[in-house]
Amino acid sequence: MPQPKNGCRPRSRPALDGACLRGQTARAMHHSALLNVMIAAARKAARALKRDFGELEKLQVSLKGPANFVTAADCRAEETLHAELMKARPGYGFLGEEGGRREGADKSHTWIVDPLDGTTNFLHGIPQFAISIGLEREGTMVAGLIYNPANDEMFIAERGKGAFLNEQRIRVAGRKRLADAVVACGLPHIGRGDPVLARKETNVMQERVTGLRRFGAAALDLAWVAAGRLDGYWERDLKPWDIAAGLLMVREAGGFVTDCDGGDEMFGKGHIAAGNEAIQKELLSALKAANKA
Ligand code: IPD
Ligand code: CA
Ligand code: CA
Repeated sequence: MPQPKNGCRPRSRPALDGACLRGQTARAMHHSALLNVMIAAARKAARALKRDFGELEKLQVSLKGPANFVTAADCRAEETLHAELMKARPGYGFLGEEGGRREGADKSHTWIVDPLDGTTNFLHGIPQFAISIGLEREGTMVAGLIYNPANDEMFIAERGKGAFLNEQRIRVAGRKRLADAVVACGLPHIGRGDPVLARKETNVMQERVTGLRRFGAAALDLAWVAAGRLDGYWERDLKPWDIAAGLLMVREAGGFVTDCDGGDEMFGKGHIAAGNEAIQKELLSALKAANKA
C-alpha cells in the first residue's frame, strides 16, 4: 500500500498539542442566562444583516443607494439588539453607536453595542464585519459577544469563565517575539485619525514584525487576537463600542490589553494595544519608539 508522504501520516490518536487543548469543550457547554440573552439578540439582528449583505450586490448601481441602505441596516440592527436586550434585562442602560446613550433604572449595568462593526467592509461586500455586544458592570466589562454573520463565527466571553469561538475554548497565540508575530492595526482615512502618527507607528512596526495587517473591523481584530490568529493588534481613534466586548475576549483568552501608553484608559483615550504578555509588551515599546521618532 502506498505510504503517505512525510508529514501526512495519519495519527493513531491526536497529539496533546494546542489544537487538542482548544478542542476541550464543549458539546455539553452550558451558557449562563446572560450569554443566552446576548446570543439570542445577536442571532436575531444578524438574520436581517445577513439578508441585507446579500442584497447589497444588487444595489451597487447607484453610489448613494448602498450607503443609505447600509445606514438603514445598521440602525435596524441596533434597534433589534436594543429591543431584545431590554426585553431580557429591562433596567440596564444601553450605549449604542447609532442611538447613543439610553439611561436605565439600573445604574450599575450598561450594554455597549456596535450593531455593525466593519461598515466599510459590509458596504463593499467584504465579509469581515460583526455585531459586538459588551456588558459593563460598575465600570468593568463582564461579558462580551462578537458575531460575524457572514461566516457564522460567534465569539463569546464572560469574566472569569474564559473565551470561546463556536463553543471551542480559545487562547491567545504563544509566540514570544514580535519578530515572529502577525499584527493587525487600524489606519486613518479621509477626515479621520492622525496620518502622521500612523505613518510613524507603521514604519516602526513594519521593521519589527513578520506581517502587518489591516482588516477593518476592530471587534473582529480583537476576537482574532483572542483566538490566536493574530499575535497582536493596536489601533487609535476608537470608540467604546468598537472594543468593549473585544477587550474582555482577549483577557479571557489569557491575553493582555492596555491603551497605547500602557494604562487602562482604553475607553477614555480611544486607543488600544493587545496581545499575549510578551507581544503586548513589545508592541508598547515599539509604539513608544514611534512616538519619539
Ligand atoms: C470601524 C471599524 C474599523 C476601525 C474604525 C471603526 P465601524 O467601526 O472597527 O476597523 O478602524 O476606527 O470606527 O464604523 O465600521 O463601526
Ligand atoms: Ca465600530
Ligand atoms: Ca458600527
